[in-house]
Amino acid sequence: MKKTRNAQSNKSLWWQDGVIYQIYPRSFMDSNGDGVGDIPGIIQKLEYLQELGVAGIWLSPINKSPMFDFGYDVSDYRAIDPVFGSMKDFERLIKEAHRRGIRIIMDLVMNHTSHLHPWFLESRSSKENLRRDWYIWRGDIKGKYPNNWMAYFGGRAWEWDDTTSQYYLHSFLKEQPDVNWRNPALKNAMFNEIRFWLEKGVDGFRLDVVNFFIKDDRFRSNPFGIGKYLRPYDLQKHIYDRDRPELLELLREWRALLEEYDERMMVGEVVAEKPNPALAANYLGDGTDGLHLSFDFSFMNRKWDASLFENRLRAYHERVPEKGWPCTVFSNHDQVRSCSRYAKGDDAEKRARVLATLLITMRGTPFLYYGEELGMKNVCIPKSRIQDPVGKRYWPFNPGRDGERTPMQWSDDAYAGFSSVEPWLPIADDYREKNVTCQLNEWNSLLNFYKSLIALRNNSVALRRGDLAFCDAGKDVLAYRRSVDEEAFCVALNFTSKVRQCNLDESYDWKVVLSTHRRNGEQFQFREKLFPYEATVLEQTKKR
Ligand code: GLC
Repeated sequence: MKKTRNAQSNKSLWWQDGVIYQIYPRSFMDSNGDGVGDIPGIIQKLEYLQELGVAGIWLSPINKSPMFDFGYDVSDYRAIDPVFGSMKDFERLIKEAHRRGIRIIMDLVMNHTSHLHPWFLESRSSKENLRRDWYIWRGDIKGKYPNNWMAYFGGRAWEWDDTTSQYYLHSFLKEQPDVNWRNPALKNAMFNEIRFWLEKGVDGFRLDVVNFFIKDDRFRSNPFGIGKYLRPYDLQKHIYDRDRPELLELLREWRALLEEYDERMMVGEVVAEKPNPALAANYLGDGTDGLHLSFDFSFMNRKWDASLFENRLRAYHERVPEKGWPCTVFSNHDQVRSCSRYAKGDDAEKRARVLATLLITMRGTPFLYYGEELGMKNVCIPKSRIQDPVGKRYWPFNPGRDGERTPMQWSDDAYAGFSSVEPWLPIADDYREKNVTCQLNEWNSLLNFYKSLIALRNNSVALRRGDLAFCDAGKDVLAYRRSVDEEAFCVALNFTSKVRQCNLDESYDWKVVLSTHRRNGEQFQFREKLFPYEATVLEQTKKR
């Protein structure tokens, strides 16, 4: 169990090489007919994931929770919520996944706990309680709030508590009080919770809102600033309630804890109002002492343009420290699905293939969100069925995040083969045509295209580990070279619905290895026209 050799050795590591698949457990597979996905359901589908070729799965939270924010409010870090199954089920999942060469990544929600966590119940019970300082309590200032901090989900970040006549801090819902990472006993307790899962054989963690962990020690008010929306939260620069310099020190200790074990990893969710690759890269430390991976959310918007994509990729990759490792992400459970964001009529499916090729062949670890491999889109949720607290609060201005969390589409059976009863969220209307069974049978489906891409990546050192160099191939074409020693590939992506010129290095021969429009093995001239939305991976060979 404990580490047996240096994880920093040259040996390639699973979390660098492989594709990681995100599962939102409530929506993946319901095994017991209650309309909610569960762990035995995930176990049933491991074979599918193995065939897809993924190296690891990240599970959104499965810990015990009163579900005010669907698991992002934990009331017991060491327990599995009964809605998902038992500890025995989880142990079986680890065993079955490992047997298939699939690693398990858990979501660690440690900026806050549930307000029903026993630590918080104790903390709020009296000012003298030993755990009082495990959370962030402040008195009023002349009858007013301690400062101007706002909650990410709306309203003030301070909630008055009559029991001790003080405010507690909650960066999200009032049912999610922030813990005080500056308190050594709290830190120690949290590290013990992490050890518990490391000992159980969990391979990695996704750190929820990692850049919120440490707050200003003087509780200064944030200055005014304009963010993404016009919510009060977005009218502040979050320099005092987030991204404090002391966080890197905490991450160093966290990394050291993981390094005691063999081949474990942590990937951080770094929240930012605008694309901020520098911020994401910052938490990698020098590449050996911070997060192993951190999400750069530069692609969570709607702009579809080859040169913009290239600029954003460059901005991020240039900032990843030399000893660090990048990752790529286009979708998750908080963002409108990529296939809906970039949709444009019939072009959606074609763009999905361009994105797929980029995701799997870019340098760094790809994160694939369940259903992305089918081209699943956001579902418009009727008001009466909204579950997400964000949707409940802001509908109709913001429908919330349910739309990207609808059940996985397995087949054209009732409820898309996800459940035997009406699921907790509606199934997408297009499930009869867009589902796993259908797409497995159709050689030219998006799912089979993903499978081929992942297989190509899994079999190629250059695609997994090779250097990245952008090529100036032509207008509206994103092209880059991935190479290591003698092995080299060039990926050419036409972002438009028009034919586009693609110019490559004429001192080599080029051969198609995977393409949306060409046969494998075909020659590709150094000056070629790309079909509309063509995505092609070419192998570079010496001139004959
Ligand atoms: C992260 C999660 C999101 C959750 C929030 C509060 O952003 O991804 O789903 O609501 O943190 O924990």
